[in-house]
Amino acid sequence: MQYRKFGRLNWNISEVGYGMWGMAGWSGGDLKETEMALDKAVELGCNFFDTAWAYGAGKSENILADLIRRHPEKRLYAATKIPPKNHQWPPIKDSKIEEVFPFDHIVQFTEKSLQNLKVDTIDLMQFHVWEDSWSSTDDWKKAIEKLKKEGKVRSFGISVNRWEPVNCLKALETQLIDVVQVIYNIFDQSPEDELFPYCEKEKIAIIARVPFDEGSLTGALDINSKWDEGDFRNVYFGKENLINTLERVERLKSLVPAEMSLAQLALRFILNHPTVSTVIPGMRKIRNVENNMKMGALVNSELSSQTLSQLKANRWDRVPTSWSC
Ligand SMILES: NC(=O)c1ccc[n+]([C@@H]2O[C@H](COP(=O)([O-])OP(=O)(O)OC[C@H]3O[C@@H](n4cnc5c(N)ncnc54)[C@H](OP(=O)(O)O)[C@@H]3O)[C@@H](O)[C@H]2O)c1
Repeated sequence: MQYRKFGRLNWNISEVGYGMWGMAGWSGGDLKETEMALDKAVELGCNFFDTAWAYGAGKSENILADLIRRHPEKRLYAATKIPPKNHQWPPIKDSKIEEVFPFDHIVQFTEKSLQNLKVDTIDLMQFHVWEDSWSSTDDWKKAIEKLKKEGKVRSFGISVNRWEPVNCLKALETQLIDVVQVIYNIFDQSPEDELFPYCEKEKIAIIARVPFDEGSLTGALDINSKWDEGDFRNVYFGKENLINTLERVERLKSLVPAEMSLAQLALRFILNHPTVSTVIPGMRKIRNVENNMKMGALVNSELSSQTLSQLKANRWDRVPTSWSC
């Protein structure tokens, strides 16, 4: 595994981290196998784990607590998120921060996450949604200052809404945010335009999330793909999006180098960008962990400039819609 500096925090973070939503929110997983997959990731050098209170109302945080307890000799970094008080993903455009992240809510959910994770200090606490119009208000800043002063949180971040990578730039100007989590993958390349240059200049760490576009960029979906009732992927991959997505994935398949899978190519594309600090694929299967962690052991020259420019041509700019939460 190779490691990168995590922005101005200067932590050494594995290039491939671990996304922990699926294990407490998606259908089709098995907890025993997930725990073995997490152990395998640690064995292969992964040291960054992204969870959220909202992933099973603390269930995913509890799974991470158990992992940390099973590996006391390792420095594993825990990143979690404060849910919006009004449970709206994405946030309602003209909502007020008092409805979403009032001071008491930020403090209360930090306490809950501390308990769930069974740690004294959370390495990274992120706002699970954001509207930049909230940035000029004061209470969220006071909450950050209090929680840092009390030693309960080491750093704060924003997980920006899907397909809105610049909807956080005013918050970044406050210098209170050390990390941005953003969707960045072969389709969703727009963070390269403004967000990445800004973060590079200000040494703000970037967590690249949803590297496989929720699974399509693994090549595993087809026109009949459906999941158990309540699984978010039924909404995201509704008819409109699924058909468009499958056509684009089909075009990508011819670009996959002989020794790689499409999933590995997807990770390699993301890690090719020097501003990315870590990429966090969601994984519950050991075989997926093994395949993905390998990508963190390669050097960036693994992708030819021809492949890279062909992948860049597959950029897909999208705007948020009712199904894109
Ligand atoms: N608003 C937010 O803050 C937000 C929103 C979305 C996601 N996230 C974070 O980002 C993480 C990653 O996103 P995601 O989990 O939504 O989607 P993703 O990483 O794009 O895709 C996950 C899917 O890919 C499969 N997969 C992983 N590696 C594979 C491989 N090598 N070959 C074939 N299939 C593979 C997984 O299967 P198995 O699970 O069966 O192994 C899972 O079905 C989340 O877990 C979460 O931590 C944050």
